[in-house]
Amino acid sequence: MITLLAIAASLALTPAAMPTPPGELPVDPYEVSNSNAGAEPLSDPAVFEAFGGIEGIDRIVDDMVERITVDPRLADIFRASDFVRLRRTLKEQFCYLLGGPCDYTGMPMRSSHADHGITTAEFNALVENLQLAMDAEGVPFRMQNRLLALLAPMQRDIVTR
Ligand code: HEM
Repeated sequence: MITLLAIAASLALTPAAMPTPPGELPVDPYEVSNSNAGAEPLSDPAVFEAFGGIEGIDRIVDDMVERITVDPRLADIFRASDFVRLRRTLKEQFCYLLGGPCDYTGMPMRSSHADHGITTAEFNALVENLQLAMDAEGVPFRMQNRLLALLAPMQRDIVTR
């Protein structure tokens, strides 16, 4: 009985128990948890509002992803990416970190970036694209910096060379 419960509990935590969302490629099972988002969420509602709530965050992520795909410093790394999944999980992650009513269902930062051999220069290039997307959405600099301060320490898990 205990074994069966343990199996049921572990299935409930993995995508093996969830259907692959429409338009996305299947991924290997992993434990779904907000702790995979890589930082504790902000609790100041003014920041989430300054980003335009869920709709503003969605536009920022879509714009950032578009910019990444045409940025010669980054395009190759993302050439084989599942952009439907990437957009969905990034939107969840930013919404969660900004204190919005979202859960992050993606993988931890370390495991999702381990195979990509990302450099510090590439990390900085991605952040530049995020800044341009936040500027385009009209997010004030001090509010942009609240998100960037959460993302900066993730460099430890994302940059591997
Ligand atoms: C703080 C900065 C970053 C954050 C918050 C972030 C966030 C994410 C998230 C949420 C995912 C999806 C995880 C999943 O599929 O479950 C992901 C995947 C990925 N990220 Fe990042 N990332 C960051 C920096 C970077 C950088 C600098 C690069 C390369 C220049 C990069 C390249 C990738 C690639 C190639 C994938 C896999 C996409 C796929 O296989 O379909 N990321 N990232």
